[in-house]
Amino acid sequence: MDTSKKYLITSALPYANGELHLGHLAGAYLPADIYVRYLRLRGCDVAFICGSDEHGAAITMRAKKEGVSPQAIIDKYHTLNKETFQKLGISFDYYHRTSVPLHHETSQDFFKKLIDKGGELEERTTEQYYDEDYDQFLADRYITGECPKCGNPEAYGDQCERCGSSLSPTELINPKSVLSGKTPVLKPTKHWYFRLDKHGDWLRDWIENGILDGQQHHDPKAWKKHVVGQCLSWLNDGEGLLPRAITRDLDWGIPVPLPNAKGKVLYVWFDAPIGYISSTKQWAIENNKNWEEYWKGGNVHLVHFIGKDNIVFHCIVFPAMLKAHGEFALPVNVPANQFLNFEGQKFSKSKGWGIEQHQYLEEFADFPNKEDALRWALIRNMPENKDSDFKWDEFVDFYDKDLADNLGNFINRVVTLTNSYFGGAVPAAEIGLSSKLDVVSTLAKSLAQDIEGFNFKSAASILMEISSWGNQYLQDTAPWAIRKSDPESPVIKECIFNALQIVTLLSALCEPFIPFTSLKIRGLLNLPVLKNGDMEEVFEKLEMGEALLPIGHQVGAPEILFAKINDRKEDSRLKIIERQKAKLEAVITEEASKQPSNHSTIQPLKEAIQYDDFAKLDIRTATILTAEPIPKADKLLKLTVDLGLEKRTVVSGIAEHFKPEEVVGKKVLLLANLAPRKLRGVESQGMILMAEDADGKLGFVNAGEGWENGLVVK
Ligand code: MF3
Ligand code: ZN
Repeated sequence: MDTSKKYLITSALPYANGELHLGHLAGAYLPADIYVRYLRLRGCDVAFICGSDEHGAAITMRAKKEGVSPQAIIDKYHTLNKETFQKLGISFDYYHRTSVPLHHETSQDFFKKLIDKGGELEERTTEQYYDEDYDQFLADRYITGECPKCGNPEAYGDQCERCGSSLSPTELINPKSVLSGKTPVLKPTKHWYFRLDKHGDWLRDWIENGILDGQQHHDPKAWKKHVVGQCLSWLNDGEGLLPRAITRDLDWGIPVPLPNAKGKVLYVWFDAPIGYISSTKQWAIENNKNWEEYWKGGNVHLVHFIGKDNIVFHCIVFPAMLKAHGEFALPVNVPANQFLNFEGQKFSKSKGWGIEQHQYLEEFADFPNKEDALRWALIRNMPENKDSDFKWDEFVDFYDKDLADNLGNFINRVVTLTNSYFGGAVPAAEIGLSSKLDVVSTLAKSLAQDIEGFNFKSAASILMEISSWGNQYLQDTAPWAIRKSDPESPVIKECIFNALQIVTLLSALCEPFIPFTSLKIRGLLNLPVLKNGDMEEVFEKLEMGEALLPIGHQVGAPEILFAKINDRKEDSRLKIIERQKAKLEAVITEEASKQPSNHSTIQPLKEAIQYDDFAKLDIRTATILTAEPIPKADKLLKLTVDLGLEKRTVVSGIAEHFKPEEVVGKKVLLLANLAPRKLRGVESQGMILMAEDADGKLGFVNAGEGWENGLVVK
């Protein structure tokens, strides 16, 4: 690690309008905390920055829903989130908030600087939706309607949460105001736009090649593939780099600092990332630092930790803002995580699916090591490169297999043996640090590399490898057996000495992941709490073959760090887990009872027709002869059917219900005189009759067995 750099590490500022769940923790906060704790132990100068995102329509909507002021909402959740992070050991250097004057000024100055530079911002008057009952323009989130891409009837003006497309309010079909419920009208309004379109070329070079201003800024291969992929697809989608409105007509937010801008505020996604800067400023004020050293010049190592929904803002929009401003450093990496699901489904507060961070702390109040138990389970299953799934059974397994059986067991054995063989003093081994520990030292190095490369899952499994190597080493050497025949054998001393070195190493290596446990191990070893730079020292000693725990050092009494959960039926911890599972079952039962019964989904009858209308339909018995998928059309199958007189090609929308091989040979009914129609380049000559059940499942309307093809249905 380059300790001459200034490390500025940020986690996405969470909206102060609600609780945060385990997915948030695994996405943007825990990985950043691992990285930061590691950097500190390596002796780096770090500022770990976060805070509450307190503007935007999400806050005012929540306030409106609860019938309180926006200020009351942000005060409540700012405090809750801040305290919860702290309890879980997320070691921010500063947790600021965007509603305070320092942040307002910083954002306004940023905006004014862009105005003064000329060419970065432009004023535009456009037609925007206006609610006449409420006499106000509607922020994107205040408009809902049908998504033009997927048909979701409840898409928002900025985004469809079902298909993930970003939208603009005027794209919505049948828009409605969230305030009055009425159809809004279009009215002209003036806003400031950031000319993102002017930044495309350098952004591409920066993301693809890591080149900035003609110099190598970072190693582009060090960025996660999914992050680069999302950025490039955005840059390549012509729509991506249009000028973006950075002001809104709202009464909650940072006033646009211009005389002709009454009633206009900065868009929340403009001011929120500037929150990283103002948070750093406040930290510097309170800690006697110079904030500019962490933001300006070539010595800055800026990393943004975020979830994948924030990639475009942190890799494209905010960097472009920083570059346009001109004084700030750009991130050297944005190791975004994907999403964490919960027991197979998305977290959903309304459904009651998932668990919030503070709720976990409350419901696991009597669960020893609850903080590290959670951190560890989330790390082992971190959605680093693809979505992952949190399961209570795995939470227990990770605890039992890794923390109890492996790490805890090893440490306990070593401390116990040291006490019973040597009165707790580190025995004198003949040699310094034996070459037996080469393996361990190599593993430690690759663990460090993995953390530096944001591969925290892999780093965590190396931690386990080290401790299982230790267990195996004890087992293979079996000092207890040697002791019976040759109590004075130097091998016993060497073994315990080596094992104690590994425990000491583990106490440092585990700190970024499970800091509460690290503290306990330090206690067992009778060592001081780790301080900045201590891991650096460990690595130096390993390199020189020096002992990490000196001969003669007195360790403490043994103490079980982790008791296995699944050992005893009556364990109160199992009851806590069972309660969690029971809650989920209740949700599933509840959901199932809400599903309309078959009967109630039977559709009302259509309006009456004459016999002639029916007689126009030429419905025939037929047999499906062949079936094949149609490339790039997930729903369609291309069928040939035998109609008796002739064979027909029919394109049928059943591919999500049947595999091709399942339908071949089926006796079906075909509407044979439906005008031919081209679907995905294939002409469909007729339609197969199907019935749909309550769950939307399709079934064939079968012709009787043994019937010829081509018979007329009348
Ligand atoms: N509040 C946003 C969210 O939760 C994240 C803001 S990150 C920042 O999605 F960069 F804008 F601060
Ligand atoms: Zn959609």
